Amino acid sequence: MAIYMLGRNTFGDPADAGKLMTIEEAHQLLEDWVPNERLRLHMKQVAAVMKAWALEREGADATTALKWELAGLLHDADWEKHPDDHCRIIIEELERRHIDPEVIHCIASHGPRYFGVEPENTMDKMIYMFDELSGFIHAAALIRPTRYEGMDVKGIQKKLKTLNFAAQVNRDDITDALSRIDTPLEEIIQFIIDHQKDVV
Ligand SMILES: [Fe+2]
Repeated sequence: MAIYMLGRNTFGDPADAGKLMTIEEAHQLLEDWVPNERLRLHMKQVAAVMKAWALEREGADATTALKWELAGLLHDADWEKHPDDHCRIIIEELERRHIDPEVIHCIASHGPRYFGVEPENTMDKMIYMFDELSGFIHAAALIRPTRYEGMDVKGIQKKLKTLNFAAQVNRDDITDALSRIDTPLEEIIQFIIDHQKDVV
């Protein structure tokens, strides 16, 4: 992945705190911006895992969970059509739509090495944690005849050490993301498997 430094650290307008779009509007944006079905599925999977983590692990209310879900659903929305301006285009779109700055900051911090924005709150740290690993686990599911059924954490951990499997997934990012949170890798992998397996 190339480097697309955003060159700034603040996003959105504090006056827009609490302003969200509906999940239907976010899905429509994906339909309009992302023809690639596999990329759309990736974002839906990250969204499902983010929402579930907010509700089950952070005790979030429905509005907060929607923030986590929207960040997951839109984090790569500009990747297909604007590969050279990835992240900047969706951020500017969400700023134009007056979306809550926390959602925008979360999207901006999903790859600190690439966009130059550090994850600050838990939502930021978890999207960084889930993004690469979610894609990795899905790649592992695709080569199994039974897909997610019977998939186990140990098998995923072993594949992570097999560097020529899903070689585009940067293991250093996973290690770095993990170092910023208190949850063990095993638990994160299991959580992702459980919450993205039925996303279509
Ligand atoms: Fe992603």
